[in-house]
Amino acid sequence: MIIAVDGPAASGKGTIAKALARHFGLPHLDTGLLYRAVAATVRRLDLDPSREADAVAACDFDELTLADPSLRDDETGQLASIVSAHPLVRAALLQRQKRFAHQPGGAILDGRDIGTVIAPDADAKLFVKASPQVRARRRHAELTGRGSEASFDQVLADIRARDARDSARATAPLTQAADAAALDTSNLTIDASVARAIALVEARLAARAADA
Ligand code: CDP
Ligand code: CDP
Repeated sequence: MIIAVDGPAASGKGTIAKALARHFGLPHLDTGLLYRAVAATVRRLDLDPSREADAVAACDFDELTLADPSLRDDETGQLASIVSAHPLVRAALLQRQKRFAHQPGGAILDGRDIGTVIAPDADAKLFVKASPQVRARRRHAELTGRGSEASFDQVLADIRARDARDSARATAPLTQAADAAALDTSNLTIDASVARAIALVEARLAARAADA
C-alpha cells in the first residue's frame, strides 16, 4: 500500500504523514528533507544554487546531513526551493524516492510531487492545504520556539515566495493530482486533521477494494 501526501509549506502534511504511518504501520519518508540536504550542501560547499551543475554536485550529500537540525530552518527551505527547480536535481533524487515508495509492504511519503511523479500509482493520495496566513502563523510559532527572531510578516513573505516558486516551476510543480483528496487544515486542530486524513485514506482504500 502506497500513501502519497502532498501540499505547500506548513500545511500540516508532515504531521499528518507521520500519524498515518503510525496508524497504518508503514515506513515514512519526508522527501522535503532530501531537497533540504542538497540546499545545505550547496551552502556548506559555497556553491551557486541557481547554477544547475552546482546543485547537481550537491546531490551526492553525506547521509549524516539528513539528521542535521539546521535543515529545518527557513533559509534552508528557501534554498531548497531554488535547487529543487532544477530538472537534473529532481532526476538525481528520483530513483531513491521511487524505490522507497515501491518497497515491499508499502510506504508513505510526503512532499510536493508524490502523487503526480514519484508514485502516480499510489493507493491513496491526499493534498493538504491551509491559507497562507494560517501556515505563516504555524511556521512562525515553530521558528520562535527554536529561538529565531524572524517576524510574522517575514515568514508570511517567505511562504508566499516559496509557494510561487514551487508552483511555477516547469518540472514537477506543486499541484493537486486529479485523483487526490483535498484536506484543508486551516480550521482544524492537529488531532482533527489526523482523524480526517485517516477517514479520507480509509474511504479511498475501500473504494479501491470495491473496484477490484
Ligand atoms: O510538513 P508541513 O510543512 O506541511 O507542516 P507540518 O510540519 O506538519 O506542520 C507545521 C506546523 O503546524 C507544526 O508545528 C504543526 O504542529 C502545526 N499544525 C497545526 O498547528 N495544526 C494542524 N492542523 C496541522 C499542523
Ligand atoms: O516542510 P516544508 O513544507 O516547509 O518544506 P519541505 O517539504 O521540507 O520542502 C522544502 C522544499 O523542497 C520545498 O519548498 C520544495 O521546493 C522542495 N520539495 C520538492 O520540490 N519536492 C518534494 N517532493 C519535496 C520538497
